[in-house]
Amino acid sequence: MWVGTHPLVPGPSTLHDYVVTSLPRHPSEGAERERATLAVARAARALAAAGLESARAEAELLAAYVLDVPRGRLALADGFDACQRERFAALVARRVDREPLQHLTGRAGFRHLELSVGPGVFVPRPETELLAGWGVDRARRRPAPLVVDLCSGSGAIALAVAQEVPGARVVAVERSPAALAWLRRNAAARVAAGDRPVEVVAADVTDPRLLAGLVGQVDVLLCNPPYVPRGVAVPPEVAGHDPDEAIFGGADGLDVIRPVLARAAALLRPGGALGVEHDDTHGAAVPALLAADGRYAEVAEHRDLAGRARFATASRRGDGPRPDTGLAWQTGYS
Ligand SMILES: C[S@@+](CC[C@H](N)C(=O)[O-])C[C@H]1O[C@@H](n2cnc3c(N)ncnc32)[C@H](O)[C@@H]1O
Repeated sequence: MWVGTHPLVPGPSTLHDYVVTSLPRHPSEGAERERATLAVARAARALAAAGLESARAEAELLAAYVLDVPRGRLALADGFDACQRERFAALVARRVDREPLQHLTGRAGFRHLELSVGPGVFVPRPETELLAGWGVDRARRRPAPLVVDLCSGSGAIALAVAQEVPGARVVAVERSPAALAWLRRNAAARVAAGDRPVEVVAADVTDPRLLAGLVGQVDVLLCNPPYVPRGVAVPPEVAGHDPDEAIFGGADGLDVIRPVLARAAALLRPGGALGVEHDDTHGAAVPALLAADGRYAEVAEHRDLAGRARFATASRRGDGPRPDTGLAWQTGYS
């Protein structure tokens, strides 16, 4: 059973905001409008009693959402009218029932993006921003890189790369029809905002013929697959609201990762870069799979700020005889 905050739980920090601490007097105080700060304090107590670690922050984010103000302006807001008070109470009750905050607001922050999310799609996690950032850095080393994002979900990684590397051609692959609908919606919003369109492909990433037209051409391949071993207990937000196919990766959690590593080796050009997120228990297993494949060099393991093994990277070797695969690999903070 998970205790405390786990990377699988999408935390409120993804909304990139800060805490309100002041309680200034306001002309509406005592009138029929209820001061936001009082309602927030009450909501925070309810959320804390439900076991949420960031109860105050989440209460503020929900209040700011209902009042349609930035969280930092909450103390200066006019306060709740009767209708807003009712809406806020309903949202707090749903959060007490452990519906993800991002499903309540319909939004999730990811790097410099605000994505639409809801039922049927995985809520992007802050930890995955590390893998996306690594991919952005690799992609920027080429003038017009071809970047592929496998298991794209809401499109978080693909759309972040498209925004941050404007010269990139980005291909996003996803299998779930529900997730594809969110991905296309987010992709259209980013085009409207001026980003280069991401190419959305509906496909199974374990298909050995995946993206056959791109064999040997991909500069950067990124993947945040389902990787939790079957049977592992996950928090209520995850169990009740993230699709199972986004979370569980078979008995050992590697059912999707294994074929992805094999297909990535075919898709990458010599020198191309691969980055794959994995379970924090797979900090040795995924680098070992990369090393054992024989087509990868520079295998490295990356940790998050909490020190947990988070993603593995490698570069595609040039073709030629397969080298001795008894490689050691490096570890480090990304
Ligand atoms: C952990 S989520 C990652 C979503 C997104 N990349 C992110 O980081 O927020 C994994 C995604 O992989 C998709 N998926 C699972 N198995 C797949 C498969 N065999 N082929 C294509 N997509 C798959 C799921 O539907 C889900 O959207």
